[in-house]
Amino acid sequence: MAHVLAVANQKGGVAKTTSVSSLGAALSELGRRVLLVDLDPQACLTFSLGLDPDTLELSVHDVLLGRLSAGIVIARTSDGMDLLPATIELAGCEAVLLSRTGREHALRLALAEVIDAYDFVLVDCPPSLGVLTINGLTAADEVIVPLQCETLSHRGVGQLLDTVHDVQRLTNPGLGVRGVLPTLFDGRTAHCRAVLADVSARYDIAVLTPPIARSVRFAEAPGTGRSILSTARRSKGAEAYRAHARAIAEVSGAEVSGAELSGAQVSGAQVSGAEVSGAGAAHARFAGVAVELARESGPLEPGPLEPGPLASGPLEAVPLEAGALEAVRGGQVPVGVNGARG
Ligand SMILES: Nc1ncnc2c1ncn2[C@@H]1O[C@H](COP(=O)(O)OP(=O)(O)OP(=O)(O)O)[C@@H](O)[C@H]1O
Ligand SMILES: [Mg+2]
Repeated sequence: MAHVLAVANQKGGVAKTTSVSSLGAALSELGRRVLLVDLDPQACLTFSLGLDPDTLELSVHDVLLGRLSAGIVIARTSDGMDLLPATIELAGCEAVLLSRTGREHALRLALAEVIDAYDFVLVDCPPSLGVLTINGLTAADEVIVPLQCETLSHRGVGQLLDTVHDVQRLTNPGLGVRGVLPTLFDGRTAHCRAVLADVSARYDIAVLTPPIARSVRFAEAPGTGRSILSTARRSKGAEAYRAHARAIAEVSGAEVSGAELSGAQVSGAQVSGAEVSGAGAAHARFAGVAVELARESGPLEPGPLEPGPLASGPLEAVPLEAGALEAVRGGQVPVGVNGARG
C-alpha cells in the first residue's frame, strides 16, 4: 500500500506544486511507483506536467464527486509518474462537497481503489485551508510543509498545524507531520536561517534538509511540461529534491508506518543541533539557532463523521485500457482518457 504524502501550506507561491512534481520525479527515478494528485483548481501541477487543464475531459473533480473511479482519470506523465489531474471545475467541486456528509473523506475513499498500485502518492494541496486541503490531509500518512523563509512565515505554519491537529482529532488520527521544507532559500541571508530556527523552536517541528535554494531553473521547468529533474538534471535544486526523495524512500523501504512517524518522533525538540536520526540522513532535525543551514474551509465541524453518499456502495477500480497510456504518450488521445499537452 502506498505511503501518502500531502504537501500543504495555505500560503500561496511557496513551492508546493514544484515540490510535488520534483519529489515525484525523484521518487520515480528511484524506481518507485508514484501517483501525484492535483488538488488545486488552479491546476498548475497538471499544466506543469504536460497536460492542458483547459482541454481535459476527465479530472479529479469527477472522482471526488464519486462520478468516476480514479483509475479511469489517471494519466501517465513524461517524467514517469502517474497523475490524477485537475481542472478549474475543482473550484465548483468544493462547493458541492461542502453539502455532503463525509466530505473530508472523498479523496481517501477515491484513492482506496488504486493505492495498491503505487509506492507513493503525493498530494498537491491548494493555497487554502478549505475542504480540499482537509481532504488531502485526511488521505495522508504525513504532511510536508514547504516554507518560504520570510518574516511572518511562521504565522501560516501555526494556522496549518492547528488544522492538522483538527484532522488528527476528527478524521485521520494517523496523520504525521514530516516537517517544514525550506524553499526559495537564500542561504546568504541570516534572516532565512533565523526564520527557520524560530519556526522550528516555536512549533516543535522538524526542518527538513537540505533546503531548496532559489534558482531560475525552477521557473523554466513548468513551461516544458517536465519537472526540473528532467530539464536541469544536475542542478542543485534537482539534487536537493533527490536527497529528500531518498530519505522518503528509505523510510518507506523500512516499512515505517505513518502512525509511527507521527507525533513525538518528528519533533524539533527531541533532537538538538543538526543531528540526524530515523527518517534518513537528508532529514536532519534540529532546534534553536544551532542549525547550520548555511552549509549547503474554515475549521472542521466537531461531531461524528458518518459515511455519506461518497462512502456508500463498493468502489470499483476501472483500469485503463491496454495501450491507452502509450497512446497518450504518443500524442494520440483516446476517448475518455486524459492526454498529454502539446
Ligand atoms: N527553488 C525555487 N527557486 C526559484 N523559483 C522557484 C523555486 N521553487 C518554485 N519556484 C517558482 O515559484 C513559483 C511558485 O511555485 P509553486 O507554483 O510551486 O508554488 P505553490 O506553493 O504551489 O503556489 P500556489 O500556492 O499558487 O499553489 C513558480 O513560478 C515556481 O516556478
Ligand atoms: Mg501550487
